[in-house]
This record gives sequence, C-alpha cells and structure tokens, in this order.
Amino acid sequence: MSARKDYPPLPSVPHHVGIIMDGNGRWAKARGLPRHAGHKAGVDNIRPVLEGCVEFGIQVLTIYAFSTENWQRPPDEVSGLMRLLGMAIRQQLQELHRNGVQIRHSGRLSGINPELQKQILHALEVTKHNDRIVLNVAFNYGGRSEILDAVRQIIRDGIPPDELTEELFSRYLYTGDLPDPDLIIRTGGEYRLSNFLIWQAAYAEYYTTPTYWPDFGKDELYEALLEYNRRERRFGRVLDPEPTPV
Ligand code: FPP
Repeated sequence: MSARKDYPPLPSVPHHVGIIMDGNGRWAKARGLPRHAGHKAGVDNIRPVLEGCVEFGIQVLTIYAFSTENWQRPPDEVSGLMRLLGMAIRQQLQELHRNGVQIRHSGRLSGINPELQKQILHALEVTKHNDRIVLNVAFNYGGRSEILDAVRQIIRDGIPPDELTEELFSRYLYTGDLPDPDLIIRTGGEYRLSNFLIWQAAYAEYYTTPTYWPDFGKDELYEALLEYNRRERRFGRVLDPEPTPV
C-alpha cells in the first residue's frame, strides 16, 4: 500500500474547476490499444481526480464528457461513449451518492437515447440533496447551443429586453445557479476552449498540460492549483492603481 501523500495547503482554492479531458485516443494509441480502451481508462480516471478535488476543497467539478461536435465521430465510437456513460452511472452511482457527490448534467437531453436519458435523470434525482461536491457532467454539451437554448427560453418567458442582465442570463444556462469556473484545465496539450463553458469561463484561468487525460492524477491537479495561485486575477481592473495626482 502506498503512503498517503501530504500536499501543503494552498492559499487560494478555486470554487469551480472545469476539465477538458483530452488525449484518451492518443493514450490508447501509444499502448497499441483501440480508442475505446482510452475512453474506458478516461472514465476510470474521473474518480481519483474527483477525490483530489474533495481533498483540496474544490466545490464544483465540471467535466467535458461528450460535446455536441462529438456526434461527428465514427458511429462505433459515439455508441461506445454513450455505453460508457450508462455503465458509469450503473456502477458508480451508489458510491458517489454515499460519498455526498451531487451529480448535475449540463447539455441537451434531446438526442440522447431515451434509456440513457432516464439513467441521467435518475442520477440527478438520487443525488440532488448531496453537498460535499458537485460533479457536473457536460454531456451532449456545446457552449453555443447552451447560449441558444437560453435565448430561446428567455424569449418564451417574455423577459423584457431591459430586464435582461448578465446575472439573469447566467441563470438560464445549463449551469443555472453554479458559480462560474475559476480554472479550466485541458489535458492532451491543446490550447483551445472547444466550445466549453464559453460564457461562464469569461474570466477563468486556463491551464493546459501535455499529459493525456487517463494519466492526469492528483499530483498534477495539485500542480494546476499551484499555478492558479501564481496567477493574478484582475477581472479587468488595475489592482494597484497609481495615486491620483492632487
Ligand atoms: C477526448 O479524447 C475525450 C473525449 C471524447 C471526452 C472525454 C471522454 C471520456 C473521459 C470518456 C467518456 C466519459 C464519460 C463520463 C462517458 P480524444 O478521443 O479526443 O483523444 P485524442 O485527442 O487523443 O484522440
């Protein structure tokens, strides 16, 4: 058994971290395995990272599990990803629930097969009162379609244009009452947001690492949090203004 590693406390911990879990295919290829084995390893890696988030005090973790663009992948890969979500819910829901994880879904339910939709809704229902950490699964998610869905609902609700504020608009997004992400992590080495939380991540810090998602562990999560602590978040302001001349 390996000894538990102690991580020095961090001065500042992001409330909400979003992760673009990229590199499953390359992880598999490097091992001479089919892409599906990479996705399977990717799903298995969610749990230790979620545990790390709880340990470090993160309150919301959003994972990008299936984008609206992912439908364009080969049909076998798409159905494999759908099956993996169903399997993950069947095998892990009870343990997530016992551990106080509140599961949320961001994305369009329509388009997902009805049986899987039911499983997703069941997972949300069972865990809705848990408060240790929120695991928000972005599945059949696209930032642009999220904004369109919000605008459509705002129009249906007859919100007068002058009453629409950024706060009200945010509440119409799939993320609803969740705080905006403070930190977006992307594994697999790219420097793109890929339609992930494009409204919510307006002021998020961005961390990218060449590590493929199945290899991204607690140590590297801590590394990302250290880097987050080195950033100066100004939100468009000047933090140390020059004195006004008298
Ligand atoms: C990209 O790796 C990853 C995805 C398609 C999203 C992440 C998916 C998982 C972790 C598995 C599914 C998760 C759930 C909860 C069902 P890639 O295939 O783009 O990798 P590559 O860039 O190396 O080809």
